[in-house]
Amino acid sequence: MVLSVSTPVDERTRRPDLTNLAAAARQVARWCGPETLVVVRSTVPVGTSRRVVLPPLTDAWGRARLVMAPERTIQGQALRELVELPQVVGGLDAESLRAGQDLFGGLAHQVVPVSSLEAAELVKLSNNCHTDLIYSYGNEVALIAERHGLDPLEVIRAANLDYPRPNLSRPGYVGGGCLSKDPYLMVESAGDRGTFLVDAARRLNEHLPVHVATAVVEEIRRQRGTTAGARLAVLGWAYKGWPPTDDMRGTPIVPMMPVFREAGLVVLGHDPMVTDDVVRAHGGEPTSLDKAFSDADAVLVVNDHPDYRALEVGALLGGGGAKLVYDSWRILDESAVTAAGARYAGIGYLPDPDRVAVPAGARPGQA
Ligand SMILES: NC(=O)c1ccc[n+]([C@@H]2O[C@H](COP(=O)([O-])OP(=O)(O)OC[C@H]3O[C@@H](n4cnc5c(N)ncnc54)[C@H](O)[C@@H]3O)[C@@H](O)[C@H]2O)c1
Repeated sequence: MVLSVSTPVDERTRRPDLTNLAAAARQVARWCGPETLVVVRSTVPVGTSRRVVLPPLTDAWGRARLVMAPERTIQGQALRELVELPQVVGGLDAESLRAGQDLFGGLAHQVVPVSSLEAAELVKLSNNCHTDLIYSYGNEVALIAERHGLDPLEVIRAANLDYPRPNLSRPGYVGGGCLSKDPYLMVESAGDRGTFLVDAARRLNEHLPVHVATAVVEEIRRQRGTTAGARLAVLGWAYKGWPPTDDMRGTPIVPMMPVFREAGLVVLGHDPMVTDDVVRAHGGEPTSLDKAFSDADAVLVVNDHPDYRALEVGALLGGGGAKLVYDSWRILDESAVTAAGARYAGIGYLPDPDRVAVPAGARPGQA
């Protein structure tokens, strides 16, 4: 019996909500028996399998066969990765572990036994929080580059080139159902000492969409003198563009929208994967790609869906239209944007407006 129910965090307190897992464990205790191998696959704070899942099983059966085998697949490639990723398995006891190894040995190319349920729980959290940390560092570098008028990609590329140490990551939003909550499961696992890095990295990654939204609003204000009624086309509402998904969990749009609303912007929305109803439910007016560039005052590209990489942005802007293109993932042709008379920007990258044909004024990003 495999338990892979959602393990969210409370929106307000950010504390783990394990009620689904507890309910599922009670159902398993009711309908199955002591010979059933129970597999916890959800991502959980360290100690949860023993503290939340095990008691209902042993209360009902007197004993239990229990393993923790974390799901580490990436969305969009799960079926391939189920087979190709090494499967970590921790057991309640030797018999449970053997049964877990047998089960996953028939699926994954490689099974990695670890010595406890808790070790397996921490493996999963460590992987995801490491990813959040690595990305947050790229974002930190980008925010500092912006303060100095530098191009973070120039800095990061130069830092990485043939340098035999760990690479810096490019700046970008860090969302999705897992990375937006797993750091809080790690913080919970740290107990009353808290964490030094994990919560700081998460705060930085959660700040980035607000930073970008504010920069976009300030640039629109600089160009038009006012933001009220200005039209902003936002491309890419799902939390990521590759592999393509319609998943809105942890999307940067949610923290961005209050900034746009406060500035009185009209937000137009486009995403090849997300339905118009979902765009509307998040406060956008669905639009086409053509109209996004021709009818809006500014375009903000939020995710890197392959359709956006392929855009002929010079042609789209050819007849006038948007005067700002904020390209979060730097996937568009900067020179085509500036040749069309629009200002080009990216995360941490706000090149001098004097380089392009827009009126001089206060640098964006300043209050
Ligand atoms: N989505 C991913 O790619 C991914 C990758 C790695 C790990 N995980 C982890 O796997 C777990 C599930 O993630 P998800 O994205 O599939 O979540 P989800 O919310 O999309 O799906 C969870 C499913 O569990 C069901 N459920 C909830 N409570 C239940 C109960 N008491 N009994 C029976 N079913 C119940 C829900 O109806 C839903 O279908 C989470 O802990 C997540 O962190 C997910």
